[in-house]
Amino acid sequence: MDIKNIFENNRKWVETKLGLDPNYFKQLSEGQSPEILYIGCSDSRVTAEDLMGIQPGEAFVHRNIANMVPNTDLNVMSVIEYAVRYLKVNHIVVCGHYYCGGVKAAMQSADLGILNPWLRNIRDVYRIHQQELDSISNEEDRYKRLVELNVQEQCVNVIKTAVVQREYRDRDLMVHGWVFDVHSGKLIDLKIDFPKLLKHIMEIYHLD
Ligand code: CO
Repeated sequence: MDIKNIFENNRKWVETKLGLDPNYFKQLSEGQSPEILYIGCSDSRVTAEDLMGIQPGEAFVHRNIANMVPNTDLNVMSVIEYAVRYLKVNHIVVCGHYYCGGVKAAMQSADLGILNPWLRNIRDVYRIHQQELDSISNEEDRYKRLVELNVQEQCVNVIKTAVVQREYRDRDLMVHGWVFDVHSGKLIDLKIDFPKLLKHIMEIYHLD
């Protein structure tokens, strides 16, 4: 990949889009009403629209290292507030991926500077599920399970927000936990029982 080619690529992309629909960009400029909020990892191998086979305008996307939803992070919290309250998305997806460098780094005994507080949240996920994770002897399988449990815990963090609790009460809104397998290209639904999880979470985290 040569950075100089990007503008040439963009020119061709515009041409292709307009070839299929001369009003394509005019329509895009009129506004967005995505159905999905996608929270994924910044990993360059894990795209959002591409792996879901969707087009511009269909998903509101937030990506950060290891698809985290820390309640003190203004960025992800603002994205959730905006997507749920104003864009009225019907689905919130937290999508992790196997072979996640962020998850791997979190489990190493190294001082990673400013990454320490960010990745600390993944160590907390490990601590919550230590018994299950420690019982997995194969290291690769253990990391994979930690990726899945991290997705589950970030879904829990989504549910802890007041905006999600309130909007869920008033309309259709679902939270989904998915994992992308970089090795096969497949998307896996962790089949998180959102209504059950929400009920359990609200016993302690009820805000609205
Ligand atoms: Co990752």
